[in-house]
Formats: sequence, structure tokens, C-alpha cells
Amino acid sequence: MSLMNPRSSTHAIKLLETDHREVDAMFEAFEKATTGPDQTEIVSRICKALAIHTELEERIFYPESRNVLKSDGQDQVDEAYVEHASLKGLIQRLDGMRANEPLFKAYVTVLKEYVQHHVKEEEKDYFPDVEKTSLDLEAIGQRMLVLKEQLMTQLRDEGSPRGVVRAKLIESQPLPQRAMKKAA
Ligand SMILES: [Fe+2]
Ligand SMILES: [Fe+2]
Repeated sequence: MSLMNPRSSTHAIKLLETDHREVDAMFEAFEKATTGPDQTEIVSRICKALAIHTELEERIFYPESRNVLKSDGQDQVDEAYVEHASLKGLIQRLDGMRANEPLFKAYVTVLKEYVQHHVKEEEKDYFPDVEKTSLDLEAIGQRMLVLKEQLMTQLRDEGSPRGVVRAKLIESQPLPQRAMKKAA
């Protein structure tokens, strides 16, 4: 069906894959940056982009796709949430950190490796499975675009002081609709 209906620029998966390529490009720019201030600036942009991207997925794409994926697809969604939680731990460490601080480079390197692993799983397994369902990915993409613009405006207005991205990160909650929710 997707061959008959090429994805528009607001197709949900197209939007997410475009974000992925932008983050790839930012990590490449980081590798080429030669000064500490440039590295600090690029990592700040990476953290903001990942905060926005993970929130789009967790607030819209993951719950919507969980609703239509069959039981074996649920594991992919669970894994994606758990991977996001790990990614956010690294983002919190890097948020507002400067390139001359201890472990800066190590955190960036590990973040890049985790992001690459997570993106590969989304693009190779999770997204193709969602595309086989009846989910209206154009309508979901429109909602994601609206949320993305709101989140970008919020973060742009805040600048880059330490703690801004940390405050924006939402808690990854993989089991929103499950009965365990009230277990605590
Ligand atoms: Fe993700
Ligand atoms: Fe993603």
C-alpha cells in the first residue's frame, strides 16, 4: 500500500526518520568540531533534539502503535521505552556540561552508540511492523508536527543553561495502559 501512496513530509515515520538523520548529522559535526565551545554547543543541540524526539515518540507514536501492534510487537514497544530511559540518563548527565569537563567525551561517545543502536531497531524492526498496520500515519504525523513545534519553541526560549533539558525530559512509562499501573 505504501508504494501506491508515497509518504508525505508529515507522515509519522518520515518525520521520525528525518529526526534520526538530523541527529546523525549532529554527531558527525561533533566529531569534526575542533574547539571546546563548538563541541559544547553541538552537544547542547543534540540533547535538545533527543529530548523533543523521545517525547514525540512517547506521547504519540509509541502509545498509538502499541494499540495496533499484535502481541509480539508489544515487546518492541517495551524495549523502545526502556532504551529511552537509558538514553535520558545520559542526556541528563550531558545537559549543560561543557567540553572541558571530565567524562564529557565519554558520555557523548556512549550516547552516540546507544542512539545508533536504538535508531537501528526502530527503523529495521519497529517502524516496518507499524507500517503494515492500518494506523493512520499521516494523521499521527500531523499531531506530532504540532507537538514538535510547541516543544521546539519551549526549548528555544529557555536557552542552554544547565538543567533545561533535564527539566524537559518526561519519565519513560512503558506501561501506561496496563493494570500494573497502581501497583505502587
Ligand atoms: Fe525512540
Ligand atoms: Fe526514534
